[in-house]
Amino acid sequence: MSQLPEVAAVILAAGKGTRMKSRLPKVMHPLAGRPMVQHLLATVAQLKPSRTIVVVAPGMEDVAAAVAPAEIAFQSEQLGTGHAVLMAKDALKDFTGTVLVLYGDTPLLRLETLQALIAARAAPSNPAAVVLGFRPADPARYGRLVTAPDGSLDAIVEAKDATPEQLKISLVNSGVMALDGVILFDLLAGLRNNNAQGEYYLTDVPAAARARGRVNTVREGDEAELLGIDSRSILARAEAIVQKGLRQAALDGGATLVDPDTVWFSHDTKIGKDVLIEPNVFFGPDVTIADNVVIRAFSHFQGAHVASGATLGPFARLRPGAEIGTDAHIGNFVEVKNGRIEAGAKVNHLTYIGDARVGAGANVGAGTITANYDGFRKSHTDIGAGANIGSNAVLVAPVKIGDGAIVGAGSVIARDVPADALAIVRAEQVHKDGWAAAKRAKEKALKADAAARPKPTKGS
Ligand code: UD1
Repeated sequence: MSQLPEVAAVILAAGKGTRMKSRLPKVMHPLAGRPMVQHLLATVAQLKPSRTIVVVAPGMEDVAAAVAPAEIAFQSEQLGTGHAVLMAKDALKDFTGTVLVLYGDTPLLRLETLQALIAARAAPSNPAAVVLGFRPADPARYGRLVTAPDGSLDAIVEAKDATPEQLKISLVNSGVMALDGVILFDLLAGLRNNNAQGEYYLTDVPAAARARGRVNTVREGDEAELLGIDSRSILARAEAIVQKGLRQAALDGGATLVDPDTVWFSHDTKIGKDVLIEPNVFFGPDVTIADNVVIRAFSHFQGAHVASGATLGPFARLRPGAEIGTDAHIGNFVEVKNGRIEAGAKVNHLTYIGDARVGAGANVGAGTITANYDGFRKSHTDIGAGANIGSNAVLVAPVKIGDGAIVGAGSVIARDVPADALAIVRAEQVHKDGWAAAKRAKEKALKADAAARPKPTKGS
């Protein structure tokens, strides 16, 4: 196979995205828990480009931070896609390879599609532009690809500048192009904005290349991966596509999803083999689940790592810093935050474990709370291996329960408990023999007495 040319990527992201009706720049809206532009950058990174430049408008510092280490080029006025690419000129000084132009709001592009464009640029005809075209159900707003009988591309005509005849063309411009870096910036510098929108169109580059005797070619892509996200409803459609892919990956990786459509993954969720996931489970960012874990319905996880054989839920909540050990049990309505539940430990019902360690094999009874916050600072609770915490205990941090210790139900523990000791903090239980029966008899007598009294007559 011939050597592919060196690649640089220019990602356009200076548009405000007003249709999103958001203060957040369009490309920062998340898909599967990360900004859409990062999805695109992750795909681009697999091409190992020698340079990646993201074109943003001034004031989009959050985008600049999110795309690092990609370089940033600023476009102070949005004068069109051609003008936007021109802003990358300095960053691409002396670059003579293929310049891949992408849109930050078109994040579903597949690696194979980009590789095909780059390969097509390396054809013996040395095309100046390889344009990714597609045939949408409704071509209305897209630029039309005007091709020659041999299939090469003569020009791109924007819908607003097209003749009625050109508007009948079903093959349109996706916006994605692989361009010859040797002449690109020369051609861009020569662009005029004498068109319907008064913009400098990147789409005028192929015709300008033709005028210099170069050819351009077209590759056809699939509409689904070319979804340009410029409204919340398209964002939701894109999310559905991404989720479908993530669910499929989990299934292919050996997990059972009882009702796949109800499970929501983040882009970085890692699920092991023979994991059972019941319906309605949410994985926020940074969650890893090892093999043989059972996740019962309605559980919510974020920033949590779960070792093999553990059982979670139903209705479990794991928050950042939750580390669940091998074969541990986290039951219903249990919340763990910054807490390590060691191997075989059980926290089965209605419990909050925050800033704590639960030692191996320990059992934490229903309704237990680690009181980790006193209104000023967070403190740590340490529960030793094999300890048994009775139901409804409050462990007031900082506090340490020694290995094998037992805490009586209902205790409020504010001092360290030695290993193997029983700690119990509870008011003395008193029995008053016959008291309840006497009370009942007294109440019954009062009621009978009241019934025997003459009733007041109406109007008296
Ligand atoms: C563009 C193409 C059109 C194609 C369509 C596909 C041009 C002139 N037209 O249309 O042929 O069918 O995409 O969606 O290229 N941007 C900047 N700076 C600017 C202008 C745009 O960064 O000055 C960015 C936007 O943020 C966006 C991308 O470029 O990510 C495309 O801009 P958009 O306005 O959506 O393109 P269209 O003119 O609709």
